[in-house]
Amino acid sequence: MSDHDYGQEATVIGPVLSGPDQKLSRHVLGHYPTGVAVITAVTPNGPVGLSMNSFTSLSLEPPLVLFCPALNSSTWPLLRDAGDIAINVLSAGQESVSRLFASRVSDRFTSIDWTPGTNGAPLLSDALGWLECSIEAEYPAGDHTVVTARIQRMGVHDEIAAPLVYFRGSYYAGINEAVEAVEGRSNA
Ligand SMILES: Cc1cc2nc3c(=O)[nH]c(=O)nc-3n(C[C@H](O)[C@H](O)[C@H](O)COP(=O)(O)O)c2cc1C
Repeated sequence: MSDHDYGQEATVIGPVLSGPDQKLSRHVLGHYPTGVAVITAVTPNGPVGLSMNSFTSLSLEPPLVLFCPALNSSTWPLLRDAGDIAINVLSAGQESVSRLFASRVSDRFTSIDWTPGTNGAPLLSDALGWLECSIEAEYPAGDHTVVTARIQRMGVHDEIAAPLVYFRGSYYAGINEAVEAVEGRSNA
């Protein structure tokens, strides 16, 4: 199988991925659609934040979420030091915000609207929803860290219906049809 032949053929991978298998892993895992969250905090030098699609819900009791910063992230140590963070779930119109918070721009907050949350961490205008959290624990995991955070406050902007979706390396605006509508059946 060549580097670029990502068809039906299965491949068996070892404990360490070589170059082509890293590409294959990115390609296959990119088929799992996600939302995009911008995770923020306030520091003595101003607000910080970065885009993440590793954010997910974890536990109801206690109320926990998780996300996975890369070991080479320069923003994660600042979030960790802050301790109190905000997780902003991006809406369909915020592709540029996702790109901004994944870029090398050092001040990512001058060109967007935001307000400080109760814990000081920036809440981004036009986000679909937000969670104010305190960092609970971190676990080493390969070239990333698994971070758990406890939810303190949260809310959604019901007037904004559509999420920003990330799938196969591209952005999609919203979810157009419910499964029932696509499959022509309903559980009702
Ligand atoms: C859609 C999307 C999802 C991302 N998810 C993650 C993630 O889960 N963890 C991570 O460390 N970086 C993730 N990134 C990459 C960071 O946003 C990007 O590397 C950013 O520049 C990190 O910079 P910094 O931590 O050095 O500020 C993602 C980027 C995009 C566009």
